[in-house]
Amino acid sequence: MIKDAYGHSVKSFQVRVQRQDAPGAAPYWQTFNVEYEPDMNVISVLQKIATMSRTSTGKETTPVAWDCGCLEEVCGSCTMVINGRVRQSCSALVDRLLEDNPREITLQPMSKFPVVRDLVVDRSRMFRNLQRVKAWVPVDGYADMGAGPRQSRGEQETAYPLSECMTCGCCLEACPQFLKVELERKPNESDAEYKQRCGEAYDTEFLGPQAISQAVLFNAHPTGKMMAGDRLDALAGPGGIQVCGNAQNCVAVCPKHIPLTTSIGRAGRAVTIHKIKQIFGGS
Ligand code: SF4
Ligand code: SF4
Ligand code: FES
Repeated sequence: MIKDAYGHSVKSFQVRVQRQDAPGAAPYWQTFNVEYEPDMNVISVLQKIATMSRTSTGKETTPVAWDCGCLEEVCGSCTMVINGRVRQSCSALVDRLLEDNPREITLQPMSKFPVVRDLVVDRSRMFRNLQRVKAWVPVDGYADMGAGPRQSRGEQETAYPLSECMTCGCCLEACPQFLKVELERKPNESDAEYKQRCGEAYDTEFLGPQAISQAVLFNAHPTGKMMAGDRLDALAGPGGIQVCGNAQNCVAVCPKHIPLTTSIGRAGRAVTIHKIKQIFGGS
C-alpha cells in the first residue's frame, strides 16, 4: 500500500492531463480524481478516467483520448510524457509513480509530434524519416527464391539489438536537435490538410537517432546493403547526421536500450568514407 508523507494509506490520487481538442488547437489542463487500487498501470488509470464524465472540480467533460496496442511495451503506440519523463504508459506502474509523488500523476502528449487529440499524437513524422533513409530490405519479387545470404553469428548479434526498435519516439522526444515544428492552423484547413502540411515541413528536419540507427541496421543486412549508397546520401543530406550534437539524451531514454550513439558513430564513419569515395570517383 502506498503511503503519503504523513504515513496515511493513499486512497485516491489526482491525475493532471494536458488535453487538446483537435490538431493545432490550444492545449489546456484538466484534473481527475482516481481511486487507488494496487498494481495499476497508467493505461488502467486512463480506463478509469474514461468512465468519468466530470473533472475533480465537478465540471462536465469529454472522455480523454489515448492510444495503445500491445499493452506489453512492444508497439510503442502508448508513448507519452508521464511526470515529465517520456515512456510507455502500459509499462508505467502507478505504485512506482506514486512513490515519487503520492498525490498526483501528470500526463502529457509527446511534444515533438502533432497532437491528434489529448494524449494521441501522429507519429508519421518518424515513418517519413524511415522512408528518407530507405529503412527496408528491397525485394524484386515474392516468388520463393530459396534461402537468402547467410549472416554470421557476430553480424546477427550486432543487428538484433537495432531491430528491437518499436518506433515509439522516446529518443526523438528527448533529442534537443529533433525540433518541434509548430505550424499555425490556417482558417478552414481540414485536419487532413493540416497534417499533410506538418508532414512536409518535417521533411528537411533532423532525421533523428531512430532513423540513423535503422539505416545502420539495413546497411549491415546482406541484401539491404544493396541500397547502402542511397542511405548514406540521405544521412549526409539536409537534416542528416551532421545535425546530431552528441548530447546522448536519446540513448538514455530508449526503453529497448538500443545503442543509438554507437549507431550514430558507425553511421558517421560510413558517411565520411562514402563521401571520400564519391570525391575520388569510387562510388
Ligand atoms: S546524441 Fe544526437 S541524436 Fe542523440 S539526443 Fe543527442 S543530438 Fe539527438
Ligand atoms: S530507438 Fe528506442 S526510443 Fe527510439 S524509437 Fe526506437 S525503441 Fe523508441
Ligand atoms: S501499448 Fe504497445 S507499447 Fe504500450
